[in-house]
Amino acid sequence: MEFSTQTTASLHQIKTAALGVGVFTDGVLTPAADIIDRASNGALRAVVKTEFKAAAGTSIVLRNLPGVTAARVILVGLGAQKDYTAAKHASAERAFAKYCGQASLTEGVSALASTDCADTTLRQRASAAATAVLYALYRYEGTFGKPQSNKPKLRKLALSVTRSQAAEAQKGLREGHAIGNGMNLTRLLGDLPPNVCTPTYLGSTARKLAREFKTIKAEVLDRKRIEALKMGSFLSVSRGSYEPPAFIVLKHTPAGTTARNRKPPIVLVGKGITFDSGGISLKPAANMDEMKYDMCGAATVLGTLRAAAELELDREVIGLIAACENLPSGRANKPGDIVTSMSGQTIEILNTDAEGRLVLCDALTYAERFKPAAVIDIATLTGACVVALGHNNSGLFSKDDALADSLLQAGRQANDTAWRLPLEDTYQEQLRSNFADMANVGGRDGGAITAACFLARFTENYSWAHLDIAGTAWHSGKNKGASGRPVPLLVHYLLGQAA
Ligand code: BES
Ligand code: MN
Ligand code: ZN
Repeated sequence: MEFSTQTTASLHQIKTAALGVGVFTDGVLTPAADIIDRASNGALRAVVKTEFKAAAGTSIVLRNLPGVTAARVILVGLGAQKDYTAAKHASAERAFAKYCGQASLTEGVSALASTDCADTTLRQRASAAATAVLYALYRYEGTFGKPQSNKPKLRKLALSVTRSQAAEAQKGLREGHAIGNGMNLTRLLGDLPPNVCTPTYLGSTARKLAREFKTIKAEVLDRKRIEALKMGSFLSVSRGSYEPPAFIVLKHTPAGTTARNRKPPIVLVGKGITFDSGGISLKPAANMDEMKYDMCGAATVLGTLRAAAELELDREVIGLIAACENLPSGRANKPGDIVTSMSGQTIEILNTDAEGRLVLCDALTYAERFKPAAVIDIATLTGACVVALGHNNSGLFSKDDALADSLLQAGRQANDTAWRLPLEDTYQEQLRSNFADMANVGGRDGGAITAACFLARFTENYSWAHLDIAGTAWHSGKNKGASGRPVPLLVHYLLGQAA
């Protein structure tokens, strides 16, 4: 996919298969729409008056407008002007991209980013435009018997902006390109079936990234080396499965990094349960297939590192992934088992379905060796987080207000929001065990919080945040598929840390 900018005031003379322009409700035209309206003798105003209400995300196609060179003008609804936000702009870009894809067009020009929008910069809108196009073009085709026929042909998108906006728009397009590619890698890994996307497969994906990008190095530790590290908690989860576990270490090191100019890295830790049956505490059958998505934290780490590398991000980023399956068997964890984590703390496993924290805790201990500036873990950790926040916001937990605020802000800029939940020591009581340093579950109440409290016990030596993406990593139902979240949030955060 090729992105570019076009700088002309004469929008009506742009030669393209599809020109995207926005209109607000109540007939308020954007400056771009106004140019087209004047050139076509009021054709837009007429449509807006009669049939197009301009609700956010809707669109209408106008062909062969008199006085307009573009073959089609796609009018995209932006909602009410006073409520025009980053989210509405992104959905408008998505509607335009979706149209171009469905109409089998090979190129198009969007003027949507040129309109001012609350709380965003032009650079962010350009980024959102590029991401929207790549998002709309994603097709899962990993495992069909026949080639799929609905492949979009879109190859080129230009943003129409003013001359003074062009440089910023270019930067935004480059960022959005990296974010879109990163998200689509994350989505593919999530969507692949669990008999394909195994811990070993995640390991080879990491190695492939290292071959593709010269700033990335990958190392995949096998069971023997995980044992040598004494990751007893992680290994206990993998014990019930025939599929070997993998502990993946990815590094993006900017070119020109030396021992003297090296800054403390940012470490991302991903939950990589490639299938979560619950283990001996077996889950009910309904929708259990969706537990193939229980590696979306790991997929997010891979997608975010890919984006960092594509952007040649000027900050060292380390990705850690603890990958295994959670299955019942004669060798699997049992309720009542006590395991010793890499940190030396012991854990009584009261529910084998609370396995995410058991693999993450050892990865979080491993993170200490990098003397990180910050550690962020990403995990489809609890159903309780979905109950609390639904599917719009990821759950954010941190004792570090500055880190939490940066992540919340990055989420807003990226249109990939998170919502902060409490992480107070008073909740720790629920994890008390009579037989070990802690239990792995704290009861039903505040389940997302007690899960975060569990992880907090392994993160005392650095600044840390936890993202519970159980409600945001994939969509269920007819449009079942991974969302690529929270790659945009994390890339925006990293861009802020590189500046
Ligand atoms: N992977 C699940 C969490 C999950 C459930 C994510 C549903 C998305 C949708 C996790 O391993 C899990 O099973 N958590 C348990 C914890 C409980 C046993 C304390 C849960 O949420 O029920
Ligand atoms: Mn589970
Ligand atoms: Zn799980």
